[in-house]
Amino acid sequence: ALRGSFASKAQKSSQRSQYHLNPQASYKVAILGAAGGIGQPLALLIKMSPLVSALHLYDIANVKGVAADLSHCNTPSQILDFTGASELANSLKGVNVVVIPAGVPRKPGMTRDDLFNINANIVKNLVEAVADNCPDAFIHIISNPVNSTVPIAAEVLKQKGVYNPKKLFGVSTLDVVRANTFVAQKKNLKLIDVDVPVVGGHAGITILPLLSKTKPSVSFSDEEVQELTLRIQNAGTEVVEAKAGAGSATLSMAYAAARFVESSLRALDGDADVYECSFVQSDLTELPFFASRVKLGSNGVEAIISSDLQGLTEYEQKALEALKPELKASIEKGIAFVQKQP
Ligand code: NAI
Repeated sequence: ALRGSFASKAQKSSQRSQYHLNPQASYKVAILGAAGGIGQPLALLIKMSPLVSALHLYDIANVKGVAADLSHCNTPSQILDFTGASELANSLKGVNVVVIPAGVPRKPGMTRDDLFNINANIVKNLVEAVADNCPDAFIHIISNPVNSTVPIAAEVLKQKGVYNPKKLFGVSTLDVVRANTFVAQKKNLKLIDVDVPVVGGHAGITILPLLSKTKPSVSFSDEEVQELTLRIQNAGTEVVEAKAGAGSATLSMAYAAARFVESSLRALDGDADVYECSFVQSDLTELPFFASRVKLGSNGVEAIISSDLQGLTEYEQKALEALKPELKASIEKGIAFVQKQP
């Protein structure tokens, strides 16, 4: 049922013809930061997945109650809880997918980069443990600023000698989820049909929805392009302001992250037709990391889809060039953070 609700129409039709859920499938997923605003609803959604045999919940506090609560749901996966640094290593042993939403969220007036000082250290420490305990796992980074925390994770993994660029993902699914929702609303389309690729990065102007590549094919006036692009780029801030100090997107983020986890598990399970947008190491542009559609397979990124960047509109081409300096600086800031450490 969960798969049904996350999969696009295109994904579903291919599942019918080629991919059949393996009833023996049993993957282990860890959430680091599981007691937080994103972690809790994300844990609930993953608990509903038929592909998961065990869900490991790790946080520095408050994880026991979350685990006790979730463990009463009569779905197949077993819930295990891990609290504090001394239990971090055990939370990661034997895990296939690690999802990291640990860290502080934005308050009104903050940019994602304002979170750097706190979250950079958290991500660095957690990824060091991932490198030591489950270096072969898919790693999904949610903690912001994603444009910097993914390069931080890559550097840490390199230092540990276990970096596999095909298995490190910045979670930008929420940008796609938002783009699909807003475009469907604006154009009166059925939500299930709409798919908008979002490329670049995950902050402000680095978020670039490619509206001209919307499926099904739909035409937008210049005003609509401008309005939709700005709304998609600022959607996170819309939520931050509405929550007025109580945090940033958690429920829609959990939904988006669960979709990305489910896609990763389907890819691990042999589904040969899984595509998602993600912020990954990339040769699509001159930047070392870039979000685009990728094809997922059992070894991670199987292919980076370059066709979305061909035949852009003038507006998209300009926006692409305009985002590069900011994205480049955020990537370099992340790399420098790890390389400067003694
Ligand atoms: P939250 O404050 O509600 O939860 C964060 C959790 O992380 C807390 O339970 C906290 O105890 C835990 N934590 C802190 N340090 C930790 C450590 N060293 N190890 C393990 N856990 C630790 O925050 P929320 O709303 O869940 O957001 C989490 C992160 O996700 C933020 O950085 C936020 O900016 C980011 N985010 C990313 C989005 C994306 O699209 N990629 C969208 C929305 C939020």
